[in-house]
Amino acid sequence: MKNILITGGAGYIGSHTAVQLVKSGYNPIIVDDLSNSDEKVLDRLEEILGRKLSFYKGDCSDRVLLEKIASAHDLAGIIHFAAFKAVGESTEHPLKYYKNNLGSLLVLLDFMRDHQIKDLVFSSSCTVYGQPEILPVTESTPRKDAESPYGNTKKICEDILVDFVKSKGGVRVVSLRYFNPVGAHPSGKIGELPIGTPANLVPFVTQTAAGIREKLTVFGNDYDTPDGSCIRDFIHVMDLADAHLRAFEYLGKQDNNFYDVFNVGTGNGNTVLEVITTFEKVNNVSVNYEIGPRRPGDVVKIWADTDKIKTVLKWTPSYSLEDSMRDSWNWQKTL
Ligand code: UD1
Repeated sequence: MKNILITGGAGYIGSHTAVQLVKSGYNPIIVDDLSNSDEKVLDRLEEILGRKLSFYKGDCSDRVLLEKIASAHDLAGIIHFAAFKAVGESTEHPLKYYKNNLGSLLVLLDFMRDHQIKDLVFSSSCTVYGQPEILPVTESTPRKDAESPYGNTKKICEDILVDFVKSKGGVRVVSLRYFNPVGAHPSGKIGELPIGTPANLVPFVTQTAAGIREKLTVFGNDYDTPDGSCIRDFIHVMDLADAHLRAFEYLGKQDNNFYDVFNVGTGNGNTVLEVITTFEKVNNVSVNYEIGPRRPGDVVKIWADTDKIKTVLKWTPSYSLEDSMRDSWNWQKTL
């Protein structure tokens, strides 16, 4: 069984990916400092999988810890999720974001070279496109100046990977540009666990429906979209997890010093108001919301062109927006 190191494996996307890896015969080795996740996720994962997992609590930029992991497991590759991701916080504490998000990647690449670990799947984001002129966005849509230090770290990390591959560092890399991950494992045992007030739409919707938040504010209804609210491409986290598996298997077929990038979205755009309405309809609950002012820095509309990932990785999403809203609510109810 191939061992794959999953940094940030106790987090939202990492934990779902761990499930999919085990289902496909891989052995995930999780490293997570639990700065934005909870140790209980490991128990939940073990419940879903019916087996123990290897977990190391710590920072994936801690080289001593990485050496300890490498001496215990023969690593076939790394899926690097661990990163800070709060857009607002990144504008207040840019150095924290640059240090953590760039620093961990640099340490991991050094570690990979020294141990001849070839394969890396990197978590990037559609944020690298900014507000695109033409929609949907393909992988060759030009990247824009980032709107936030967070977004800039994703862009710079992609550049670092390209340069490292060009230098014949011996690695094979895929960057996955995620659109908006939503939903949860259908079992309701794992899902997104925001600490404090959620910044993202769907956790705010579920917490409002659950009565934890009094009211959801829709940030603007005067945009140039059918109902005036922003458009995003909401991708179920199980489909997103599956894309990592496909990306990893794809890397195995490539020559050394390989780099590629894929959009991971559904290919459909939905407005914020459609998300709320779909959530209410599928779950038969109402969400108390009001229209508020626009949120600074928000992109008006973005959704993915998914031709490349469908053709090359043979990946296609199997969950609808309805499924996502049902699973997000199911997860909220178990909390
Ligand atoms: C942003 C980043 C994305 C990042 C993600 C992680 C950009 C363009 N996107 O996604 O790269 O991975 O954060 O946190 O930088 N909304 C409301 N009310 C709310 C919350 C959100 O109306 O209470 C609206 C937003 O205005 C937006 C949509 O819902 O139009 C989605 O917002 P959010 O979930 O925060 O994701 P993004 O901003 O798309």
